[in-house]
Amino acid sequence: MAYLKPDKPEKVYVPALRAAKEKSEKLVCLTAYDYPTARIVDEAGVDIILVGDSMGNVIHGYGNTIPVSVEEILSATKAVKRGASRALLVADMPYGSYHTGDNKAVRNALKLMKYGGAEAVKLEGGRNRVDLVKRLVDEEIPVMAHIGLTPQSVHKLGGYRVQGKTTDDAKRLIEDAKRLEDAGAFAIVLELVPREVAAIITEELTISTVGIGAGTNCDIQVLVLHDLIGFTFGRQPRFVRQYANISGVITDAITRWMDDVRSGNYPAEAESYGLPEDVDAEELKASIPF
Ligand code: KIV
Repeated sequence: MAYLKPDKPEKVYVPALRAAKEKSEKLVCLTAYDYPTARIVDEAGVDIILVGDSMGNVIHGYGNTIPVSVEEILSATKAVKRGASRALLVADMPYGSYHTGDNKAVRNALKLMKYGGAEAVKLEGGRNRVDLVKRLVDEEIPVMAHIGLTPQSVHKLGGYRVQGKTTDDAKRLIEDAKRLEDAGAFAIVLELVPREVAAIITEELTISTVGIGAGTNCDIQVLVLHDLIGFTFGRQPRFVRQYANISGVITDAITRWMDDVRSGNYPAEAESYGLPEDVDAEELKASIPF
């Protein structure tokens, strides 16, 4: 089946984001962590693919993003790279990969680009990451920043809550966004922030905002693919709109297959292989000495 959107053939590079913002053209970003979903997402016409550390929640079952390693992101990025040809490929820097010194952070980011095929990296944090963002950009590594609810800070924040709800907190977020832009980030994820705050940041910045749980005014919307297609467990946050029930589709397929096996309906003759005509099964049986 061909999914490719003929009206979106050209490869997306970082500068395309600014061009889209200038034209008020909305872009879309989804996560992918493997070859088949990368192909489907890319061929559907999604502009940016994020190999997110949300893989800790949705494919590894860790319960949060803290345990995700550089090796896990690297392996997933390689697979996604093989499946995606048009979308801009962004790899997440997992917790611990940029927290113990800028040189180590640069080495990890280079690994994701050089061996994984990432075209940019994403990291979490505000003013505390400004120097690191400058350094990465100096080393030719495009950086997508991420502020608001930063899931790698879940223990410090005490849960997954909307950020920037007071005037002071909102001002701090807006300042952080501006500082990250000045440091050279090419885009900035705004996760779980009030839509009014996201609107101000989107208006104030020349770089693109990438909203998740941040209202409609962001330049780009991002979702975790597994949330969008209903391939997760448990209650979803209010910003998730589920467009399919893939868990249900899979369960239904498995149930019908099990029923067919148990009732002798699978495999049918056409789904198995017979001996060639010149080999007689009865003779074969008779020739066996035990
Ligand atoms: O890891 C991830 O998937 C993310 C997005 C939700 C922005 O950080």
